[in-house]
Amino acid sequence: MKKRLRLKKKVWFFIAIIIFIPIFIVAGIKIKAKYDYQKTYEYRFLQKDYTKKEYELISKYFEESSYEEILAKDKDETLLKILANKNFIKDNLERYLDYSSKNNLTIDDIILDVNLNLDYKFYENITKTDTEKDTLMLVNKYNALASDYEPNDLVVISQKYSWGEGKQIRKEVYDAFLNMWDDANNEGIYLIINLGYRSYADQEAIYNRLMKLKNRKYADGISARPGHSEHQTGLALDIFEKNNSSTETFKDSIAYTWLKNNAYKYGFILRYTEENESITGFNAEDWHYRYVGKEVAKIIYESNITFEEYYTYNVK
Ligand code: DAL
Ligand code: ZN
Repeated sequence: MKKRLRLKKKVWFFIAIIIFIPIFIVAGIKIKAKYDYQKTYEYRFLQKDYTKKEYELISKYFEESSYEEILAKDKDETLLKILANKNFIKDNLERYLDYSSKNNLTIDDIILDVNLNLDYKFYENITKTDTEKDTLMLVNKYNALASDYEPNDLVVISQKYSWGEGKQIRKEVYDAFLNMWDDANNEGIYLIINLGYRSYADQEAIYNRLMKLKNRKYADGISARPGHSEHQTGLALDIFEKNNSSTETFKDSIAYTWLKNNAYKYGFILRYTEENESITGFNAEDWHYRYVGKEVAKIIYESNITFEEYYTYNVK
């Protein structure tokens, strides 16, 4: 009897071991996993009130070596808004942070300004224009053409359409202009080109003359420095009306309004407006049209953006 009882006890003991050992093992694994998780950056970010999504955003753009620095501060709402912005460009991250610490602007404005280089002064941090982009190349105060750059398909503009002899423009632009000229003419408007292509040397002479006339600030408002003029691309035209060549009053003419509303249909955009002076760095020029092709001109016209914005987000 006693023997049976001892056997029963042994069996129960054995069953208990069979049941409890796995439970202990599972519990042990769970405790270890929890202990390990608490050592992870994810846990530490969550402890700092970051959500899991926000932690994932940070880990997408930062190396682990930067985490301690981020964790040492309070939750960085500005950083998170920058990372989540639809126009965020990874390479510009340091510049966004620096610019936002020095300027009291919305995140959208910080991102836009930096993307367009406006955190740099004009003519600082100059990049070589990517001429491979052809009719979509960007030439402005941050992007320059080499002194020997000259388009290889320049044609002479007939004097029927221009003031002065021997003015030149790229062939594709001339063809587009001629179509535009015909349609404007059918509506009683006589368009006339004041300037098309201008060489680096001529640009240099004009800029220096304006600087001597007044000062650098004055010259920079109305003329590009050599290498920085769209006229050197052979893609820009200064367009007036035969009976109105005044830069002062051209804006009041029917030709100005017609061009403003129709030029995009032929591939041209009005490049320098009052609205975008802070982006282009030039005073408004009611006559300066840049050829970008029909498709792009339509997008820029309809979305009312600068060529700088279009280039940054769609060409570069
Ligand atoms: N006047 C324009 C800005 C130029 O010089 O290209
Ligand atoms: Zn011009």
